[in-house]
Amino acid sequence: MRILLGVTGGIAAYKAVLLLRLLREQGHAVRVIPTRAALEFVGAPTFEALSGEPVSTEVFDDVPGVQHVALGQGADLVIVAPATADFLARAAAGLADDLLTTTLLAARCPVVLAPAMHTEMWDHPATRANVATLRERGVHVIEPASGRLTGTDTGPGRLPDPEDIAREALSLVGAAQPEAEPGDLAGRRVVVSAGGTREAIDPVRFIGNRSSGRQGVALAQAAAARGADVTLVAANLAQDVTDQVVSGPRACAVVRVESTAELREAVRAAGADADVVVMAAAVADFRPAVTPDAKIKKVPGQGPAPIELVENPDILAELAHERLRPGQVVVGFAAETGDASGSVLEHGRAKARRKGADLIAVNAVGSGRGFGTDSNEVTLLDGAGDVVGQASGSKREVADALWDAVVKLLS
Ligand code: CTP
Repeated sequence: MRILLGVTGGIAAYKAVLLLRLLREQGHAVRVIPTRAALEFVGAPTFEALSGEPVSTEVFDDVPGVQHVALGQGADLVIVAPATADFLARAAAGLADDLLTTTLLAARCPVVLAPAMHTEMWDHPATRANVATLRERGVHVIEPASGRLTGTDTGPGRLPDPEDIAREALSLVGAAQPEAEPGDLAGRRVVVSAGGTREAIDPVRFIGNRSSGRQGVALAQAAAARGADVTLVAANLAQDVTDQVVSGPRACAVVRVESTAELREAVRAAGADADVVVMAAAVADFRPAVTPDAKIKKVPGQGPAPIELVENPDILAELAHERLRPGQVVVGFAAETGDASGSVLEHGRAKARRKGADLIAVNAVGSGRGFGTDSNEVTLLDGAGDVVGQASGSKREVADALWDAVVKLLS
């Protein structure tokens, strides 16, 4: 694999040297693009010697080769480690004032950023907003580790260990690490639905929801990394989000859908010979009873026309009660806010019993939790509503905890 390793100017730049060596030892071709500030911490000869490739920081080096375009286009994966707060801001703004940022704009492959900075800088609303923007665009931003920072302070902001960065980045493009164990889902067929369905009101309007699809995509990636043959049924996911799972040797098949009816058909078709179906999509419970072919016009003075809704089929409950294949494991999610009639867990329990799935992952949503965030916290319930596990952390960590529970059920 051809990897571009961007290095920006922080103390943790020394760890980029270890990451470079690790990636080279695993047989990848690595081209290092440091920023000017990075070279204050580690000299270009170190990167050149370990990568065996020239190192430059400026667009004005090798002008006839139009380096930034050639490097960006030729890469299979871009990793920036460490990514400073300044770099995140420049990347979020789309600036192109050095070779690294220009290359980033030219690259069409998966991009992984591993931030490192002091906790206050990581927590600052400006940095949070930049990270959110980058993630929205499909950039994979690794959560910094917690621990000892440069001074005497400790907290989140530490660059994760090079082994962890390599593992996370390579699993994203489906590249197995050479020493990886054969996955515990090897030979298994898995279907994951992700995203949120849209129900057309007319040709231009729809009823939708806030699901980003990230948890579902993390589930698909984690299953693929564990050896499963994965079909991702993607309800209205952005192209750059699905791009993350379609390349590399552990690529997932992606079926794009819009409405609940389309999602149901795709899940049932792919699920017919699947060992596991995970319904992580946020499915609209209702759809407009009729969808006119022409745009509904506003008639001045008449107020809004009522929209009559009819109920959608409950895909998860159908799958759980029918079992498209004997022994198929069926997993659902329960996104709950809790209300006067019950807590998040109480609603989750009732849902688990109602749906009949083997596992239900209950998570609290609303007030900035769950939808669109980078991390998640779920309680795993069995079909009787009893707690069988708990998971929190990045959506990938939650995904792996869920697959651990599924693997137990499969065996
Ligand atoms: N689900 C489904 N088909 C539907 C509605 C939901 O398959 N028509 C699935 C979701 O994919 C999820 C689980 O059921 O795995 C729970 O979804 P949720 O929206 O939390 O539950 P609802 O049954 O819609 O209940 P409510 O909206 O009343 O909370």
